[in-house]
Amino acid sequence: MLGTALLAASRSRRVRAAVTKSPVTRKVVRRFIAGDDVNAAVDTTRRLTSGGFAVTLDHLGEDTLDRAQAEATRDAYLTLIELLADEGLASRSEASLKLSAMGQALPGDGEALAAENAHAICAAASEAGMTVTLDMEDHTTVDSTLGILAELRKDHPSVGVALQAMLYRTEADCRDLATTGSRVRLVKGAYAEPKSVAHPAKSDVDRAYARCLGILMGGLGYPMIASHDPRMISIAQALATQHGKGQDDFEFQMLYGIRPSAQEQLRSQGSRVRIYVPYGDDWYGYFMRRLAERPANVGFLLRSLVTK
Ligand code: FDA
Repeated sequence: MLGTALLAASRSRRVRAAVTKSPVTRKVVRRFIAGDDVNAAVDTTRRLTSGGFAVTLDHLGEDTLDRAQAEATRDAYLTLIELLADEGLASRSEASLKLSAMGQALPGDGEALAAENAHAICAAASEAGMTVTLDMEDHTTVDSTLGILAELRKDHPSVGVALQAMLYRTEADCRDLATTGSRVRLVKGAYAEPKSVAHPAKSDVDRAYARCLGILMGGLGYPMIASHDPRMISIAQALATQHGKGQDDFEFQMLYGIRPSAQEQLRSQGSRVRIYVPYGDDWYGYFMRRLAERPANVGFLLRSLVTK
């Protein structure tokens, strides 16, 4: 219930204004966000990669209906890629893109604009030796995102995509993408979805996640297991053994600031672990989804407000 209310609030302008104005919220936000600017992103990348992790960087922002804003986001990624290359950090880094931040929802030629912006980023990333993965947003964007993915992969075959186990369609999407060269990040799904398209019960989402894992780990692509759930991690490890996948044939991914001890444990066991690092000042939507996933985080926020 609280999770659903928080997801609804993540799209409310009124709540946004109240939450983002509070200086105390900003303190809590720092647990999940690397910092406000690209220098913070580069510093965090340096720290994490020197500790043996790979990273994927998300320049925060989503749902833009403004062409200039979409182009500014593209340029922010281009700057990031250039800085990472200059610092010698590109080979352990990836860019995570939200196509809605690239203009996907603009009326008229939004999809073409998002594809063009993503293309420019993929070209710069390839040049620098970095990979790119498309985040997946709410269910209304999935067909468009997979269409743009197919276009991007013609020139940049390593571009990956996130698929959300909560959606009924995802097992079929996993089958389509479990092919040579494809990179799929499997997540449970962070958006409020109607039960016409998504499993409403968490236990069903977990079962779907395990089935999708079976398809991806048994397939020919490169699975990216993005979950903090110890059960899903154990299932992935068992499937890797069953299908003869070595440590370099798949990777685990977790979000910056969430279960850092589990991140360290997997890494120290020899697994590839990539940390999803969000940065930038447009953190509201991302932050609210992290609160919605774990209502205990709301308690953490409230305690900070009271003890200020
Ligand atoms: P689950 O929610 O069951 O959590 C398992 C355990 O992890 C919890 O018991 C708790 O210990 C810990 N945990 C999980 N979330 C937490 C939080 N917010 N705060 C503190 N502890 C927490 N979604 C999407 O729709 N599109 C996308 O593109 C992406 N991309 C993405 C990339 C990466 C690298 C990750 C790890 C996740 C995403 N997600 C995403 C988010 C994903 O859909 C999902 O909402 C979260 O990962 C939480 O699901 P878990 O699999 O961790 O399981």
